[in-house]
Amino acid sequence: MITGMTGGFPDAVKINDHLAHAAAELGLAMGVGSTRAAILRGQYPESYSCVGRHAVPLKLSNIGAPQIIPQAPGDRVVGVDEARSAMDLIGADVLAIHLNFLQEMVQPEGDRKARGCLEQIGVLARKLPVLVKETGAGLSRDVGERLKAKGVRAFDVSGTGGTSFAAVEHHRARAQGAEREARLGKTFWDWGIPSPVSVRELTPLGLPIVASGGVRSGLDVARAVALGATAAGTAGGVLKAAAAGYPETLAELSQLVHEFKVAMFLTGCRTVEELRRARWVVTGETRQWLST
Ligand SMILES: Cc1cc2nc3c(=O)[nH]c(=O)nc-3n(C[C@H](O)[C@H](O)[C@H](O)COP(=O)(O)O)c2cc1C
Repeated sequence: MITGMTGGFPDAVKINDHLAHAAAELGLAMGVGSTRAAILRGQYPESYSCVGRHAVPLKLSNIGAPQIIPQAPGDRVVGVDEARSAMDLIGADVLAIHLNFLQEMVQPEGDRKARGCLEQIGVLARKLPVLVKETGAGLSRDVGERLKAKGVRAFDVSGTGGTSFAAVEHHRARAQGAEREARLGKTFWDWGIPSPVSVRELTPLGLPIVASGGVRSGLDVARAVALGATAAGTAGGVLKAAAAGYPETLAELSQLVHEFKVAMFLTGCRTVEELRRARWVVTGETRQWLST
């Protein structure tokens, strides 16, 4: 799948349109970026709704956990009605709620309150099909268990190994002259749980798992499935192509699909289910993580 990236500014129309067109062509699921701009500020709804013009088989709308609780007294928050609007915007099957507190801490203007998020995720998950995703720092079993108890139906691990929002925000903070945050971004650059480890953390919970965070090839997708993921997702891996055009986006994603099929052929797996039962070996740092 293509995991959520963008929306809420004029150029995002093209990016989401290219992604949705390719997702429909190849039969991939797709998420949009945070719909906060459209839902709470009425900004550029077309940059999300363009996705609905394509026959994407599974669509995920997106909202940030910091937006479901008030960050300041009197703040408008995303409740059940707003979350429903976020889904209706693209005709979504699933609402993805993202946890991005590392990013918020490094952002000079970050939304840093988190108390009450878990309860509010529960309120939304009682009414809507909710997936919880990270944004590059991974989910632990403990967090997964607490979310499952609140009625969350699926996870997207988004672990370390791919896009680092501590790094992205480090550069932004530096450009703004926010020295404290810039240094924080450097300190926490690689902070989090590696994606494959996060997949293994969550498999005992028995819910669908999207493996993401550093998925850059079809072989990575095959590795993720063998480790127990239901699907794999990429964001940063397809961003450049999506900004360039539809042919580039289709070519990049077709390459991943082809590589995935080659990995299945070479391991003698006829179905994804067979690949899920394949033997695997982990080495190096991942092995250390898994033995703790
Ligand atoms: C440009 C960009 C914007 C993103 N915006 C969002 C967002 O709005 N909501 C969200 O849940 N994740 C967002 N993400 C995180 C991705 O969905 C994904 O979890 C993360 O980038 C790790 O995957 P990757 O290594 O393939 O990029 C964004 C990622 C990128 C690269």
